[in-house]
Amino acid sequence: MAYLLGLDIGTSGTKTVLVEETGKIVSRALSEYPLLTPRPNWYEQDSEEWWTAVLATVRQALAVASVRGEEVRAVGLSGQMHGSVFLDAKGEAIRPTILWCDQRTQAQCDWITETVGQETVVAETCNPILTGFQAPKIIWLRDNEPENYARVRKVLLPKDYIRLRLTGEYATEVSDASGTSLLNVPQRRWSDVILDRIAIPREWLPEVHESQEVSGQITPAAAEATGLKAGTPVVGGGGDQASGAVGNGIVETGVVSSTIGTSGVVFAYLDQPLMDAQLRTQTFCHAVPGKWHVMGVMQSAGGSLRWMRDTLCQIEKDRAAESGRDAYEYMTEAAASVPTSEGLVFLPYLTGERCPHPNPNAKGVFSGLTIRHTKAHMIRAVLEGVAMGMRDSFEIMKAMGTPFKQVRASGGGARSKLWRQIQADVTGEPHVTINVDEGPAFGVALLAAVGCGVFPSVAEACRQTISVVDELTPQPSEVERHEGYYRLYRELYPQLEKSFDGAQALVDKE
Ligand code: XUL
Repeated sequence: MAYLLGLDIGTSGTKTVLVEETGKIVSRALSEYPLLTPRPNWYEQDSEEWWTAVLATVRQALAVASVRGEEVRAVGLSGQMHGSVFLDAKGEAIRPTILWCDQRTQAQCDWITETVGQETVVAETCNPILTGFQAPKIIWLRDNEPENYARVRKVLLPKDYIRLRLTGEYATEVSDASGTSLLNVPQRRWSDVILDRIAIPREWLPEVHESQEVSGQITPAAAEATGLKAGTPVVGGGGDQASGAVGNGIVETGVVSSTIGTSGVVFAYLDQPLMDAQLRTQTFCHAVPGKWHVMGVMQSAGGSLRWMRDTLCQIEKDRAAESGRDAYEYMTEAAASVPTSEGLVFLPYLTGERCPHPNPNAKGVFSGLTIRHTKAHMIRAVLEGVAMGMRDSFEIMKAMGTPFKQVRASGGGARSKLWRQIQADVTGEPHVTINVDEGPAFGVALLAAVGCGVFPSVAEACRQTISVVDELTPQPSEVERHEGYYRLYRELYPQLEKSFDGAQALVDKE
């Protein structure tokens, strides 16, 4: 039996899965690392921590399944998108990586948009320049840390830094490169015009591949460190969203995924690079050759519930530690004990927002609190508020003409039946689940399988390994009730937008 290995260099940890050629998962390993927040709205990570986690999880995944490195036919890499790993002439990290969720770069976004011109930005990248994306981070370094900037020789995305450590190659692929603001997305190559106008040297950027293409081979040193065989091919892989979509079988028109992890993403496949006229969604290259996708990204979806758990649910955490159950189970049980949030509405903008309000200053809100409300209502309001944020993306994509034939729920947010039902009721769309929920790591294992010839195409790999196992349909009375809540939810952001800026101005002064 030959195996494929998929790695996902995530924000909270690295996950590695070992998969049989048939698509069956034989082992998985996870290693966590900290998220550094040196200032409010700043998020960084030490790239060395990823490498340590890669070594630990690859070794563990092989050991648990008693599989030898020689039996692994190919490796796929996925990871958190948009981060900027700045490397010096020796390929060593100059400073901690600035991550996708970091919001420090508004001034640089404005500068790039003005310098390149909004029309050119959109024609080339199919997107606006957003604070989380990579290019404004490079310009931030130029503006704020000139000594570091002077040492930069290469800039990589997080998973591509791991590729460098594994293969010695400076390479990326189209789906992750789409989130740099430096790729010509329709043509799937670096944008000469943007690079010229903002004076970023072309040689700082890695080679761009299609996601299933082989980008390099495991070096003898990496073989020694990981237990893999030297010469094993490593395919391009994909950004976590495109890879997760492959792992969910989002490789045909009308099959849409709704994924709640830290962020919340609604993702649809496209034959052509179509855009929302107001640019509230992202249009990026898909990990399928010659195809694109559109996605609406909420910054804090599962992240909102985690915040609730970590700040207000110590009792549930203690009970979970005693019983061996998950604190989220106790939280959703509490939410299920109240039939409605009784007018309480939660805006999930805890780390700013991207879709539908691209505003790093947006803040989380509980609106409508009364003395009758308990923690159970607050948890329910968080579950419903996140579902309403996801609905915002559904509405935008439907208005673009994207068909919704089937919605596949995935990520931590799909594990709770209550939350999945709320998502179906709030959006009015049935939500199905599939036989695998290993996210991006499984998706890139499939890409690796295509890259080494196990399957003839990504679509065929998905057809042979992925199937629907369950469906929750919207409950008509709940759909109607949620309509009213959704209207209220939609009204709140414009009413509060100015006070978000006011709160940010106060924090900036402190
Ligand atoms: C996608 C995005 C997130 C990050 C972290 O555009 O910002 O999905 O990749 O998971």
